[in-house]
Amino acid sequence: MKTPTHHLLSVSFAHQAQKQAAEAFACEFNLPCQALHKAQSELTLNFTEMQLELIDLSQNMKLSIDFVGGSLGHRKKYGGGKGQTIAKAIGIKQGKPVPSVLDATAGLGKDSYVFACLGCPVTLIERSPVIAALVKDGIERASLNIEFTEIIDKGFVLHNCDALEYIQAIESNNKPDVIYLDPMYPEKKKSASVKKNMQMLQKLLGHDLDTDKVLEAALDKAEKRVVVKRPKGAPVLQANKPPTLNYESKGTRYDVYIIQSR
Ligand SMILES: C[S@@+](CC[C@H](N)C(=O)[O-])C[C@H]1O[C@@H](n2cnc3c(N)ncnc32)[C@H](O)[C@@H]1O
Repeated sequence: MKTPTHHLLSVSFAHQAQKQAAEAFACEFNLPCQALHKAQSELTLNFTEMQLELIDLSQNMKLSIDFVGGSLGHRKKYGGGKGQTIAKAIGIKQGKPVPSVLDATAGLGKDSYVFACLGCPVTLIERSPVIAALVKDGIERASLNIEFTEIIDKGFVLHNCDALEYIQAIESNNKPDVIYLDPMYPEKKKSASVKKNMQMLQKLLGHDLDTDKVLEAALDKAEKRVVVKRPKGAPVLQANKPPTLNYESKGTRYDVYIIQSR
């Protein structure tokens, strides 16, 4: 797995009890490790008794994943539903079976979680070991909650690997209905619309410049459609065909490529 070489990143632990786990992660990915109060890098992946968290020490900001409470839990209870734009984009229709979704750029797993709440079995692919570790921790904590059991039972499986390799290896009898892509997009300066969490992600990961290739592979391996999430006004990704249609919601566009039956 690709090692995060970001010089701004280290691993830390809140108490001695988490030292061993933190050191094991740091050793696997060749990162410095120390107690939190000694951390000097801008970003640190901090092991605590309660959760795994990414801390931006320069802005005193913390990011951890909560699939049960917080904004995601709120969206599950009160938002969403089959009428939301993202549901239409992946082809959800009243009275039709829900599609299986391969989220090839899972990030913090928010969109994946929306698909799961709509009833879809979801496979999450995330290449950053740091982000994947945060999502894995979120899944493990949520699994203790009865409300999350249904989602786990339908399928909510994370793989820390590169999407291009994963997609290329999909066999013809095992194609996901939908392959979903939401690459990091170069933002103009620090716009107010870039949420704080996304700013931390941009600091850690930079921009995804190789998504055209992932899209080509996805067009070959999706059973029904490929969906690419873009900021409104952004150019479409390069591919050997244009999107079949698109959906727009506040600030976001979903480019949909319908796969003709082969
Ligand atoms: C904008 S974020 C996705 C946010 C996500 N949709 C959410 O709802 O939280 C893009 C993520 O895709 C990951 N990514 C980009 N290219 C990838 C690839 N080829 N394989 C696996 N992950 C990739 C990046 O590491 C980053 O975490």
